[in-house]
Amino acid sequence: MHEVQRIAELRRQVAQWRGQGERIALVPTMGNLHAGHLRLLEAARRVAPRVVVSIFVNPLQFSDTGGGDFARYPRTLAADAERLREAGADLLFAPPVAEVYPDGLQAATRVTVPGLSDILCGVYRPGHFEGVATVVSKLFNMVQPDLALFGEKDYQQLLVIRRLVRDLCFPIEILGVPTVREPSGLAMSSRNHYLDETQKAHAARLYQTLCQARERLQSGAAEIDEIEAEGMQALRAAGFRAEYFSVRRAADLAPPTAGERDLVILAAAWLGEARLIDNLRLDS
Ligand code: PAF
Repeated sequence: MHEVQRIAELRRQVAQWRGQGERIALVPTMGNLHAGHLRLLEAARRVAPRVVVSIFVNPLQFSDTGGGDFARYPRTLAADAERLREAGADLLFAPPVAEVYPDGLQAATRVTVPGLSDILCGVYRPGHFEGVATVVSKLFNMVQPDLALFGEKDYQQLLVIRRLVRDLCFPIEILGVPTVREPSGLAMSSRNHYLDETQKAHAARLYQTLCQARERLQSGAAEIDEIEAEGMQALRAAGFRAEYFSVRRAADLAPPTAGERDLVILAAAWLGEARLIDNLRLDS
């Protein structure tokens, strides 16, 4: 596996593969890799002979770059590189912050996806999706992959990225990969590291609450606003600090109109020091 930190080196290697007529898949990550990331890599290997994985903890998508969430985000580059080598990645791109934002964060050109970025998680994390859209656009331009893969756990992020690809005419196919779960149902996430074992077991209540809501919706036993209120109440009763529990149209996260069937239930809630997000599609 090639390990590079500079855009020029990355481009040299990618150009060589391209010259050989090989397709390139990109798996963008912030590192601290778990089984969910490895599933993205497996999926990438099935669709392209060359897989580039990026590891970059992107300061622009954290509200508090001076400390807090950005500073304590787990960084495990050596162990990540080892896992990627074993899993068959072709290239690890792990640039320093100055390579991605040479003039600093304030001066950086930004990519904004209005509307989709301002709802659900966007309400609680202002600027977050602008940071994601900006870094993903930059990574797309650096790597110029044929395909890029993202986890469906971050469902809103996936839609933001699909929209930016369409609007900015990136010639890149975006593949969503299903969420990988612990046996308890808890969605795999780097943020699960902030939970102790007892909290981890308890955190599965988020998934269970989503499953209950899906059953209620499918059986037609309750209206959407009742289901959302019940979800919030169930999470609070289970000791979460719930931010939202919402039923939306799967295609664009708009509030569903009557008779809409392609829906997704999304939730965000804090348990201790961890902000957890999860979602369930109604047709899955
Ligand atoms: O999902 C993530 O890990 C990040 O938001 C991403 C897509 C790598 C951009 O920094």
